[in-house]
Parts: sequence; structure tokens; C-alpha cells
Amino acid sequence: MRSTIILRPADMSDAALLMAWRNDAATRSASHSAALVSPAEHRQWLQAQLRNPDMQLYIAESDGTAVGTVRAAGDNGVAELSWTVAPEARGRGYAKAMVAALANRIAGPIRAEIKAGNMASVKVAEHAGMSFQQQSGDVLHYVRAALTDPQS
Ligand SMILES: CC(C)(COP(=O)(O)OP(=O)(O)OC[C@H]1O[C@@H](n2cnc3c(N)ncnc32)[C@H](O)[C@@H]1OP(=O)(O)O)[C@@H](O)C(=O)NCCC(=O)NCCS
Repeated sequence: MRSTIILRPADMSDAALLMAWRNDAATRSASHSAALVSPAEHRQWLQAQLRNPDMQLYIAESDGTAVGTVRAAGDNGVAELSWTVAPEARGRGYAKAMVAALANRIAGPIRAEIKAGNMASVKVAEHAGMSFQQQSGDVLHYVRAALTDPQS
């Protein structure tokens, strides 16, 4: 049976882990920016995320092992979700579990941008309650309205 996922807030001690996942080739090809980030750039980025009151950045853990990251960025009342699973932990349902867990905690509307062809992430977004809204260029826009009966 698959273990339960827990989401814990990220902190600066996660910098190396998050950078390794960010610089993974599949992650870069699914991102808006495909460039490799340096340790200095990454630390600066992470510090800014952790100070931003409109950003919720989590590490997903299974049995005490970090298996992925999911975040929600406030954007005019709509939270934009994005996610990455550790390369060695992919294909085990972790993305579906962690993104749905965060989506269920957010009462307001949510959205996600997914590169066309990223079928795994399309399934992840749909599992989290989002629906296809429109395509612009090679980006698919997924949205979910505010929850009428949010989980606490
Ligand atoms: C995309 C990503 C998050 C998926 O994570 P994961 O933990 O492997 O996903 P899950 O195991 O929860 O699988 C989600 C669904 O996608 C399917 N799937 C997984 N890999 C797939 C692939 N390469 N092609 C098509 N479907 C795939 C799974 O079978 C599952 O569907 P199912 O429940 O109908 O069987 C992960 O591969 C990743 O981090 N990729 C790089 C970064 C990225 O793409 N981030 C998202 C940007 S929007």
C-alpha cells in the first residue's frame, strides 16, 4: 500500500534538494525557463520565496523521505500551483497526491500552467480538481473555481 504524503513548509535547509530537482533535465524542459540555475541564484530565489507572504512552498514527504515539492503563489486572488517530483520518485502517484493535498487546502480559485505534451501533469491537475481552460502557444491553462465546501 502506498504511504501517506505529508506536506511540510520548505526552508533554507532544502536549498540543495530543490536545486537538484530544479536542474533535472525533465524539470527544465517542463518549465518556462530551461536554463540551469547556479547555487547562488538558487539560494537567492529560495530566500525570496520564503520571505514572500503570498507564496506557500512545501516539501512532500513519504515515510520521512522528501519526494517532491509543490507550491502556490498568490496572484490577484487566484493561487497558481506548480510542482516537481524527485526524479527517483516519479511514477508512484506522488504528484497526484501532493498537488491534490495542497489544492484541497486552498479555498479560493486555483490555476496551473502546463506545457503541452506534459500528460502526467495534465492528469495531476485534473486529479486536483482543475479543468482545461485554454491553450496559449505551447502552454495549457488549467483552472478550478473556489471551493464551496473547503477542507480545513
Ligand atoms: C510531471 C511529474 C510531476 C509527475 O510526477 P509523478 O509523481 O511521476 O506523477 P504520478 O505518479 O502522480 O502520475 C500522474 C499520472 O500521470 C501518469 N504518468 C506518469 N508519467 C507519465 C508520462 N511520462 N506520460 C504519460 N503519463 C504519465 C501516471 O500514470 C498517472 O496517471 P494515472 O493515475 O492515470 O495512472 C514529474 O514527472 C515531474 O516532476 N516532472 C518534471 C517537472 C514537471 O513536469 N513539473 C510539472 C510542471 S507543470
